[in-house]
Amino acid sequence: MGFTWPWKRQERQEPTTPRPPSGNGWNEEACKEWLRHIRTTWAWVFSVNEVPFTFLPEGFRLRPPCVIHATHATFYGMQPMTIPIERLTAEAGKLAQAAQLAKDQTVVIERDGAYVGISLPLPSEFCRRLDYPLVLPIDSQAPLAVYLGLAEGGARLWLSLNQSDSPHVLLAGTTGSGKTNLARAMALCLAQRNKPEDLALVIADHKGHFAALTALPHVIAYALAVPDEVALIRWLVERLDARASGAEKRQPPMVVFMEEISDFLAAGGRQAVEGLIRLAQAGRAEAIHLILCTQRPAAEVLDPTLRGCLPARIVGKVTCATDATIATGQAGTQAQGLIGRGDMLLIAAGERLRFQAFYLPDGELERRVDPLYSLPRPSLAIPSFLADEGGIAGSVSDAQILERLRAGQGVTQIIEELFGCYGGGKWRLCRKRIAEIQEREGLAAASRRRIIQFPIGGERDGQK
Ligand SMILES: Nc1ncnc2c1ncn2[C@@H]1O[C@H](COP(=O)(O)OP(=O)(O)O)[C@@H](O)[C@H]1O
Ligand SMILES: [Mg+2]
Repeated sequence: MGFTWPWKRQERQEPTTPRPPSGNGWNEEACKEWLRHIRTTWAWVFSVNEVPFTFLPEGFRLRPPCVIHATHATFYGMQPMTIPIERLTAEAGKLAQAAQLAKDQTVVIERDGAYVGISLPLPSEFCRRLDYPLVLPIDSQAPLAVYLGLAEGGARLWLSLNQSDSPHVLLAGTTGSGKTNLARAMALCLAQRNKPEDLALVIADHKGHFAALTALPHVIAYALAVPDEVALIRWLVERLDARASGAEKRQPPMVVFMEEISDFLAAGGRQAVEGLIRLAQAGRAEAIHLILCTQRPAAEVLDPTLRGCLPARIVGKVTCATDATIATGQAGTQAQGLIGRGDMLLIAAGERLRFQAFYLPDGELERRVDPLYSLPRPSLAIPSFLADEGGIAGSVSDAQILERLRAGQGVTQIIEELFGCYGGGKWRLCRKRIAEIQEREGLAAASRRRIIQFPIGGERDGQK
């Protein structure tokens, strides 16, 4: 309990918004100017290498010549259909070099109907975030539909867990690709759209990123350490059997979120892997859905049988083409060329879509879950190994809390460091205590709301 996560601390100190180059807000003109420069350089690269490719001209009627997304921009152009796309992708390295991209950044080239799209990452000062919506759009969706973000072109992207081809989701990508952020937004979205008696959430979170969520009344079970996660899988398999045999009747659908499964799969051995496979195979019929996160989609970590039961994938940036193939289950997706920070691919129902995930940092998550804490908590089975120790919320003095609040520390960080609490029912008590102090001292956190356009010239969220 007393240890800290060095990389997590660092993550919190990172500025939440990349600094715009000037003035208040994002500098569209500077970004466009930079893109014009890239385009001229690339046109020159194509001409000296005798590649038959022409960029669409400004003002082209059928398609925008360039679209600026949250983290990348895509130029469109034409290449004769008779010439294979490989002729162009062979030049990707030269294009990356001409644009002075960092070593781990790549240019993604894809045929898109009669056109060819060439995408490159934007420098960080031109990147934007897509804030989790203050009000969810009412798209008359199924209760188990989650709002993921905006697809390219600005369309609202929902994923329904009720569908036969996406009952479970494998969320893969390297550190920093935005898995935790998205998984938390998905859990929040489900909790906002369903009453606790209509939806049960289960959270396995040995990394301590779901603290604010484990305190939700929807949560019927959680595990905050690797051994508990192994026990949690056993408990879930028991629930599955009970539902299948009819011993547990009329139970609400259950969605299970699991952070970094490779850690507890290694600890739990074959039994844990087989437990997950059973849940994945039989879960859909019993309304048990899995959202599994992993940093390492490599074959030796992620059992092929397990992968086979998880047809729906959400993939952020991965380190190499092999990982991209394993994570997406398809060849040639170029997921290694994604930018990170919520730039992701959704693979479901035989389709592949690039999208930008909503951004939901700790403070924002806390603010959104707060109103949900007061919903009535249904009496459901809670596994015995999760018994809470009481009295923790009173173990710290007001002065200590106040000192940290004044220093600008986030609530989650204070609860972890001062109370040594990483989630669950007692987290809520600590949260309440801090909220009382914030209120008394007039220290309520300011709203970080910001409105952004996404993408330029495309549809905006909520304005379909
Ligand atoms: N959707 C997003 N939009 C903008 N930035 C994001 C987004 N998702 C993640 N990030 C940035 O990337 C960092 C790492 O995100 P995180 O969700 O922890 O990734 P992972 O779990 O894959 O390591 C975050 O601290 C945040 O700064
Ligand atoms: Mg993570």
